[in-house]
Amino acid sequence: MSESIAPVASPRIMAVTSGKGGVGKTFVAANLAAALARGGRRVLVLDADLGLANLDVVLNLYPKITLHDVFTGRSALAEAILPAPGGFHVLLAGSGMVEYSRLTPELREQLQAVIAEIAPRYDHVLLDTGAGISDVVLYTVSLAGALLLVVTPEPTSLTDAYATIKVLATTQGRRQVGLVVNQTRQPGEGRGVRQQLQQVVDRYVNPGLSSPVRIELLGELPLDGAVRESVQRRQLLLELMPGSPAAIGIVRVAARLLA
Ligand SMILES: Nc1ncnc2c1ncn2[C@@H]1O[C@H](COP(=O)(O)OP(=O)(O)OP(=O)(O)O)[C@@H](O)[C@H]1O
Ligand SMILES: [Mg+2]
Repeated sequence: MSESIAPVASPRIMAVTSGKGGVGKTFVAANLAAALARGGRRVLVLDADLGLANLDVVLNLYPKITLHDVFTGRSALAEAILPAPGGFHVLLAGSGMVEYSRLTPELREQLQAVIAEIAPRYDHVLLDTGAGISDVVLYTVSLAGALLLVVTPEPTSLTDAYATIKVLATTQGRRQVGLVVNQTRQPGEGRGVRQQLQQVVDRYVNPGLSSPVRIELLGELPLDGAVRESVQRRQLLLELMPGSPAAIGIVRVAARLLA
């Protein structure tokens, strides 16, 4: 297997991904974007969960034009870029579109072209991917220079995270993994999760690589009823309840990225 990253990959492009589904990628991407925007950065979030998009739902947006229209040539890219609450921009996708469940040569080219065109205009482009290791997800991640892997402390999430790291390391040469441990139940749990994952990677993945995979803890976000409430109300947690524990955690992650 080759160990190369696509040439478009810039560290300003960050894939927000996960092994297991439903762990909080979209929540993290949207609120992290708002926190980075508050820090004065130009930020765009691209809903890369192309067939089952829900960034629009979380942000309460009703896009007339989506990436689908851009990909099919019906609309120009500029028309699909929308301002979101929180002071950042979004490129939204549609839902229920089976044509995006398979990585075709056209889809590769279209995704790469869109990301290459937007990247120079923003300080941070966050790619909110689907879960898992499908070819569409892996290709999307390959277009990002930085990786933010969301996990929860559950064993199933950790097993899937390990599998994702292994695949990204061996097929894309990925060596740096930024980890966000979401839904923690006690302070410091994130550090333990990072250490556990690093140990498994050191034992089973790193011995076969020319240079080792390093997992960096970007932050932990506590399990917090305010998150569910903000999703229900389709508002950013940072705007609805900026003092909630999970919002404070997001701001810390942003501060780390801004530093
Ligand atoms: N820190 C948290 N505390 C409490 N609930 C949370 C937290 N993070 C996420 N959730 C809950 O998990 C749900 C799923 O989150 P989200 O949609 O962001 O996951 P996802 O990883 O993007 O899912 P998918 O794999 O389907 O794209 C949220 O709607 C929220 O109810
Ligand atoms: Mg999601």
